[in-house]
Amino acid sequence: MDKIIIKGGQPLKGEVKISGAKNAALPILFSSLLTDGLNEYTNVPVLQDIESTKTLLTSLGAKIQSEKNRVQIDAKGLNNYEASYDLVRKMRASILVLGPLVARLKKAKVSLPGGCAIGARPINLHLKGLAKLGARIELKDGFVEASTRGLKGAIIDFDLKTVTGTENLMMAASLAKGITILNNAAQEPEIIALADVLNKMGAQITGAGTHKIRIEGVPCLNPTLVKIIPDRIEAGTFIAAAALTRGNILIKNCEPDHLTAVIEKLKQTGTKIIVKDKTILVQGSEHIGSVDLKTMPYPGFPTDMQAQFMTLMTIANGVSMITETIFENRFIHVSELRRLGADITISGNNAMVKGVKNLSGAPVMATDLRASASLVLAGLVAGGITEVRRIYHLDRGYDRLEAKFARLGADIKRVRE
Ligand code: EPZ
Repeated sequence: MDKIIIKGGQPLKGEVKISGAKNAALPILFSSLLTDGLNEYTNVPVLQDIESTKTLLTSLGAKIQSEKNRVQIDAKGLNNYEASYDLVRKMRASILVLGPLVARLKKAKVSLPGGCAIGARPINLHLKGLAKLGARIELKDGFVEASTRGLKGAIIDFDLKTVTGTENLMMAASLAKGITILNNAAQEPEIIALADVLNKMGAQITGAGTHKIRIEGVPCLNPTLVKIIPDRIEAGTFIAAAALTRGNILIKNCEPDHLTAVIEKLKQTGTKIIVKDKTILVQGSEHIGSVDLKTMPYPGFPTDMQAQFMTLMTIANGVSMITETIFENRFIHVSELRRLGADITISGNNAMVKGVKNLSGAPVMATDLRASASLVLAGLVAGGITEVRRIYHLDRGYDRLEAKFARLGADIKRVRE
């Protein structure tokens, strides 16, 4: 297993290019199952989750060719409707094969993803929606078994906003007979990106990015060429890193419009942020103000940036109250941040962060993707040496993060344990 060793104290300086978005690439790669032609995807990030996705698609019969950030997928030879436990347990987003398989093969057998470090992560809303479209759903031996004689359009009301639930049903409804309306749909930029891809393939989707999406089913979809949108969470992670280290960085190849809530929140801490076209200039300030935070579905402040923001608040001047409203257990990074000297008190889904003068380096353990990022950020500013272990969590969702930080002047390196 690898670990990352950081000697804190270097202000980040220079330019960084943002990679393609993991949470856009995953559903878009799975959408290749909806057509029997050769799809080509560019600006695909190099991540463990992308590798897991390619392995799963291959196990279903898709033919895949890829080099670096370009991936070609041809699902003409789709001959298996079963996604195994071994593959699904590695990546919960594998549940995104369910909608496409039912739509294309009229059946699917997908291992239940199970929970993960940040919460139970149920998929009841995915299943309820598929059933509304006319799929017969059975839960047996840890698998979801879905089958249909043919999906039919329906009105689906989501009890709460679910990103992959909206994506699964948008893909399934694209090939259903008739009109589907998704009410209380998730509004993330990754939903819009997937709808744009499906429409390029011939789907008839309107309203993506709003709380109401209308999908008029079509008989078939055609293969397409797609460039993956930039990763807003990676960009947000670099904004927080520049604020933390009192650095001065230019973030390029990003989409500032996807980060308005994050930019606004970081400005409130006193960080200077200038947006220009597809770039964000971030200048950290000596005085970091304590600011309260509440995570919300898009366009609110994203839960995937909560841990990174918390790290910034650990060295702010004052007390910050951070409320996590999306996942029930997304404070796992707190105990590790305390090992670095942070003063954080948890009560339910609230964390009270009292700023301290300095963090001090120590060995810490990564537990989930964004928690790992928050620990690396802490190491960048902690005095002395910080070792972040189990960084396979980080590799799931960040494309060579430590190399990008090193290029910005951080004293950081990856070593094999
Ligand atoms: C997506 O997860 C993202 N993953 C997550 O990013 C992100 O944190 C999350 O959306 C919220 O923004 C991908 O896009 C691959 P949800 P998803 O369904 O779709 C509850 C990262 O770090 N819920 O929007 O799994 C659920 O428990 C990852 O990149 C149900 O109750 O999240 C949660 O409380 C982590 N029943 C809330 O909804 C369901 O059927 C939002 O979950 C579905 C969800």
